[in-house]
Amino acid sequence: MIKAYQTSCQARVDAALEPLFQAPRAELERLYQAMRYSVMNGGKRVRPLLVYAACEALGGKLDRADGAACAVELIHAYSLVHDDLPAMDDDDLRRGQPTTHKAFDEACAILAGDGLQSLAFEVLADRRRNPQDAETRLQMIAALSAAAGPAGMVGGQAIDLGAVGLPLDQSALETMHRHKTGALIEASVQLGALASGNADELGLKALQQYARAIGLAFQVQDDILDVESDTATLGKTQGKDEANHKPTYPALLGLDAAKAYALELRDQALHLLRPFGSQAEPLRELARYIVERRS
Ligand code: IPE
Ligand code: IPE
Ligand code: MG
Ligand code: MG
Ligand code: MG
Repeated sequence: MIKAYQTSCQARVDAALEPLFQAPRAELERLYQAMRYSVMNGGKRVRPLLVYAACEALGGKLDRADGAACAVELIHAYSLVHDDLPAMDDDDLRRGQPTTHKAFDEACAILAGDGLQSLAFEVLADRRRNPQDAETRLQMIAALSAAAGPAGMVGGQAIDLGAVGLPLDQSALETMHRHKTGALIEASVQLGALASGNADELGLKALQQYARAIGLAFQVQDDILDVESDTATLGKTQGKDEANHKPTYPALLGLDAAKAYALELRDQALHLLRPFGSQAEPLRELARYIVERRS
């Protein structure tokens, strides 16, 4: 079921993303090509899926969530373009293709990332692309900017780079993961809930706790896959965390304990969805998918 849901949501968000990459003038063709290259290249679209699934869990219509789905994927794609730069993780392969700075050049990749980030907020602010009332659009912009910024993803990336070669304890590692990956996953669920138009305080709180569990689980599984998957399956170079002396869950706890922890977080997430009925089935499936995925 998750496969069919994923395929239809991927098609949905891709159709909404594609028109964003039309260069408004000839001089900008290369920049827009680099932005398009970084987004329209077969990502799993987990964050847009979470937006749609959270919207559905609260009884919202999917077409209200397209703007939010685009925005979270644009931020995610920007974070990957910058994460792969030589000054950060120095990776050559992403989603099975050369990274943006390899396919274009470093300056172009930096600007493409900057451009994708701005575009995310442009989409959220635009009533046509994000058909919500002004207050809801503002709440979405506030939530996504906080999650992406220095107290969220960017902060997490700073902790990550500062921690290279250092032995982090489990609490410091958790803080790093919650920032660099968890924050954007939590924002995806929050934006989906807001897009439903039915987000009461209780519903929002339960979904937020669910998102906190799967947000951490997502990065724990990413660390596990870096150890035990292979480059062809991953579409990115396997074994880079160890080569770059990154602190990870498998490095700290061992592979088996890291796997057990990911499953524990999945069970926590499922438990938190108990008050929801069958409308939350896609969110449940996503919690399972996040720790069972092989890429
Ligand atoms: C990879 O994210 C980077 C992390 C935050 C762990 P994904 O595994 O969602 O990558 P894509 O979007 O499918 O390429
Ligand atoms: C990436 O973490 C987190 C962000 C891009 C914000 P990683 O560095 O582990 O992601 P991958 O493994 O390169 O996809
Ligand atoms: Mg990184
Ligand atoms: Mg990386
Ligand atoms: Mg990784």
